[in-house]
Amino acid sequence: MDENSFISKAASPITHHSCWEAPSNIALIKYWGKVDPQLPKNPSLSFTLSTSLTKTEVEFHPTTSKKFDFSFFFAGESKPEFKPKLEKFFNRIASYTPWLSDYELKIKSENSFPHSSGIASSASAMAALSLNLMDLERQLFPDMTASFFHQKASFLARLGSGSAARSVQGPVTIWGKNESLNQSSDLYALPFGTDLNPVFKTYQDCILLVDKGVKTVTSSQGHELMHKHPFAEQRFLQATRNLSALMLIMKTGNLDAFIKIVELEALTLHAMMMTSNPYFILMKANTLAIIEKIWAFRDSEKIPICFTLDAGANVHILYPEEFKSKVNRFIKEELASFCQNGHYLKDQVGEGAKKV
Ligand code: PMV
Repeated sequence: MDENSFISKAASPITHHSCWEAPSNIALIKYWGKVDPQLPKNPSLSFTLSTSLTKTEVEFHPTTSKKFDFSFFFAGESKPEFKPKLEKFFNRIASYTPWLSDYELKIKSENSFPHSSGIASSASAMAALSLNLMDLERQLFPDMTASFFHQKASFLARLGSGSAARSVQGPVTIWGKNESLNQSSDLYALPFGTDLNPVFKTYQDCILLVDKGVKTVTSSQGHELMHKHPFAEQRFLQATRNLSALMLIMKTGNLDAFIKIVELEALTLHAMMMTSNPYFILMKANTLAIIEKIWAFRDSEKIPICFTLDAGANVHILYPEEFKSKVNRFIKEELASFCQNGHYLKDQVGEGAKKV
């Protein structure tokens, strides 16, 4: 499939209403570096989450002004400040959704996780919105297959935010052309497939909220800095190698090998930030304190927990479900004090977006 396969035909407008929930995701193999239009410099792989999600409802009305328009509400309030980002998204997808120019949209969105918790919501938000658009496109063109529906939803979401491509399906998705997965594409993400080891289908992710503030450097700026980064080419090769090794591990369920790759990827992402020009650091002292505690707990308890990091200070603790009660006690007693206001969010791997 190339991008031309996603150009839909025009169609007479209808009134439509839909509501989709799309989860956030956490990358194990990190996407960091891209080229226009939002194409990754290396493949990535992520766990799709379940309780951290965006719910978006869209009312589609045939336009009376002969001009595409939309209004946007977040948590019940009109939010015109979000419009420029959405306008950019609608412009980017316009050639793939020519039918959209005949509509006025009312978009109502909310997140299950607390506002300003330091959790990026662009992945879940762009996926939820794209699924609503595909909901209408499927209504207009009912012959659409389920796989085309998912691939185009992921394709559109990607044009809003790269990592959003991975928030349509679950429990594990891969985005970016690579030799380890037939059909893999830079245009959209695909689910891992049926040979995923069962241990990963219920994997736990506890998100420790170390810093809820706005990030000093956005992920767009970070991606941009990879263009002139002295280690960029090696990093892209390393990510591709790590992906093929991890793909095998996701089948065998070798947790020691899983931990080594996942933590290496997290630290490499931050190493790229620390060695770009200008350099920056998104980890905080408490991020490191938590990592040391995790390592000590893993050594003493022989429980296969590990961490990963997003482009921020928060720490995601990943572990198999069977250790839930012991790990929860450890988090409550030994890690909560490193979190801002003692806050953390318990989540786990999920099946992907749902229509509600
Ligand atoms: O989708 P963006 O542009 O917000 O970039 C996401 C980058 C990371 O979260 C750091 C890694 C990833 O693969 O999700």
